[in-house]
Amino acid sequence: MEISRVGIVGAGTMGSGIAQVCAASGIDVTLIDVSDEVLDRARKTMEKSLARLVKKEAITEQQSTEALRRVSTATSLSAVKETQFVIEAVIEDRDLKRKIFAELDGLAGKEVILATNTSSISITDIAAATGRADKVIGMHFMNPVPVMKLVEIIRGLATSDVTYQAVEALATRVGKTPVEVQDYPGFVSNRVLMPMINEAIYCLMEGVADREAIDTVMKLGMNHPMGPLALADLIGLDVCLHIMEVLYSGYSDSKYRPCPLLRKMVAAGRLGRKTASGFYDYSA
Ligand SMILES: NC(=O)c1ccc[n+]([C@@H]2O[C@H](COP(=O)([O-])OP(=O)(O)OC[C@H]3O[C@@H](n4cnc5c(N)ncnc54)[C@H](O)[C@@H]3O)[C@@H](O)[C@H]2O)c1
Repeated sequence: MEISRVGIVGAGTMGSGIAQVCAASGIDVTLIDVSDEVLDRARKTMEKSLARLVKKEAITEQQSTEALRRVSTATSLSAVKETQFVIEAVIEDRDLKRKIFAELDGLAGKEVILATNTSSISITDIAAATGRADKVIGMHFMNPVPVMKLVEIIRGLATSDVTYQAVEALATRVGKTPVEVQDYPGFVSNRVLMPMINEAIYCLMEGVADREAIDTVMKLGMNHPMGPLALADLIGLDVCLHIMEVLYSGYSDSKYRPCPLLRKMVAAGRLGRKTASGFYDYSA
């Protein structure tokens, strides 16, 4: 089935980015969130992001206008009735996602695929809240969505091949490179990234090197665009801790134990850029 309209639930950082790339690829979008204020903010975010692309001559003014015109908004989940594919990008809360998936299951057409952009929650667990586990799948975009090429596609235990292929085709259609991953804690992206960040925090805690030295080793020595401590500040230290906890409990393996310094930073409310203070200071 050719997808002409996608429903996106959650219009925050990720939902607005996903809406933008879908609309810029010629797909109509219904963007759903809890209030018109949030949806207005999402529209402004898309406008700014598209304007940057026009400035860089990556797209034309007309393409930008057309993309924005393709996005309509709604504050009720029932708007998914008009869509052929749904991507959920609400906050990272298992109970909320399961509740939304149960509702989506009752509202969306019975052939409609329900994808989630979760970074850490089991796809199989979310799928179990619906009566269509074969049509539930992870579609993990990276932040910022308009820039990052990867989509990690995560197959839950019951996800069908037909569902996987449809999601792979959609990811390609919106200009991304899909990678197939099975449903295990942290998938691949966070299972590899977060222990590296956690180990960098151990290096700092143990005095192996100072923050600049640790980040410089990884930037200049490993060609990473950012050092792991600066990256942790960007992601949010609470998010990093949460994902380490998911890995630690999911594998019951001590190699994933969160660094005590990471716990201490989160307890102190030093969450990185969003609080203007993390491993680095952003108050200036
Ligand atoms: N931010 C990232 O770097 C990143 C990267 C990859 C994946 N993710 C995942 O994407 C998802 C969204 O993350 P985000 O950073 O965009 O969060 P965000 O906080 O920016 O946005 C979440 C949105 O969900 C909305 N929401 C909450 N309850 C809702 C409901 N009942 N119905 C509709 N909308 C509701 C909120 O109003 C908010 O606009 C999470 O699962 C997160 O783990 C985030």
